[in-house]
Amino acid sequence: MSNTITIKKPFDSHVHFRRGAILRAVVKETTRTFGKAIVMPNTDPPINSLDAAIDYRNEILAAPGAGDFEPLMTYYLTKSLTPQEIARGAVGAEGTRIFGVKSYPFGATTNSQWGFRDMFEAKDVLKEMERADIPLLLHGEVHVSDDGEEADPYDGEKLFITDVLPRLLDSFPKLKISLEHLSTAIAADFMERNGEAGRLVATITPHHLVYDRRQAFSGGYRTLLHCKPLVKRAEDREAVRALAAKGLPFISAGTDSAPHPENKKFSSCSAFGVFNSPTAVELYTQAFDEMNALDKLEEFLSVSGPRFFGVEPNAETITLEKKDWQVTEPIETDEGVKLWPVGHVRHGIGNETMRWHVR
Ligand code: NCD
Ligand code: ZN
Repeated sequence: MSNTITIKKPFDSHVHFRRGAILRAVVKETTRTFGKAIVMPNTDPPINSLDAAIDYRNEILAAPGAGDFEPLMTYYLTKSLTPQEIARGAVGAEGTRIFGVKSYPFGATTNSQWGFRDMFEAKDVLKEMERADIPLLLHGEVHVSDDGEEADPYDGEKLFITDVLPRLLDSFPKLKISLEHLSTAIAADFMERNGEAGRLVATITPHHLVYDRRQAFSGGYRTLLHCKPLVKRAEDREAVRALAAKGLPFISAGTDSAPHPENKKFSSCSAFGVFNSPTAVELYTQAFDEMNALDKLEEFLSVSGPRFFGVEPNAETITLEKKDWQVTEPIETDEGVKLWPVGHVRHGIGNETMRWHVR
């Protein structure tokens, strides 16, 4: 096997940039290896109008290292999002249009306080999305079940796959749906049976491919791996890996890179979110190498995502080389705040080595 691999510059189907100083620090970490990305809307305040999306996109394009990167904007499915705003977003303005609407279950994750407990309450918006051909991007976890009880966080994805997703597919037969950040064997199995390019697709993060809960709890809780959905059992990771290695046209890379300031990450109540853009493409490549599936890497990283969102894959390429290195530094904002990337030699799971390097 060759020690280098050249692929079209990847497409990130799911990234969090935040705003202000964090955004100014992390955009260049994504643009280093990704040419385009679907940008998540769970900022404070949330992005739920075209005007807000235009403003947010302009902030990303003005960040250091943005270059010719293309941020593809999304709305947050909040109670104030209207069908009219969906129609406006589909047409777009000032070079910005809306590529998806993200649903967060109320209370489940970072800035999910504006999400629905029951997404079906938004049926008029969902109907308009179906008409306007705007995909629904799902944080597919049940956080609070119908009886008002908080679900076990290790079961949230399973409950969503068994109780909610089939009803959504039935109720909105033409709606394009992306199930984000697969983390369980049950979700991998559901996708293998029901996935279909252009109708039901799914994304996978680097951390759900590389780690399971043995690493998350190795020696103590590893907060850099703390995220929603939680990293699961070894057998879940194996099932997600097996799905990724198939090179299916409806499975793509979505890093879910989600930076938090040091004081929120290393606190008694660690914020949910893995910051992985400094190592994402490297970790994906390592996982595909371990699975003897490097021939499927380009479809997963660079082709499948653009196909779903109706954009061209990047014309530019990147070359990866098999070479050991370690992540020794945090990313620091221009306000002096440290953001610790997953895989960091000290704060990850300890003395980790990256096996691939982007030239
Ligand atoms: C994300 C964040 O921090 O914005 N956190 C996470 O754990 N994945 C939100 C999300 O995608 O759930
Ligand atoms: Zn996310």
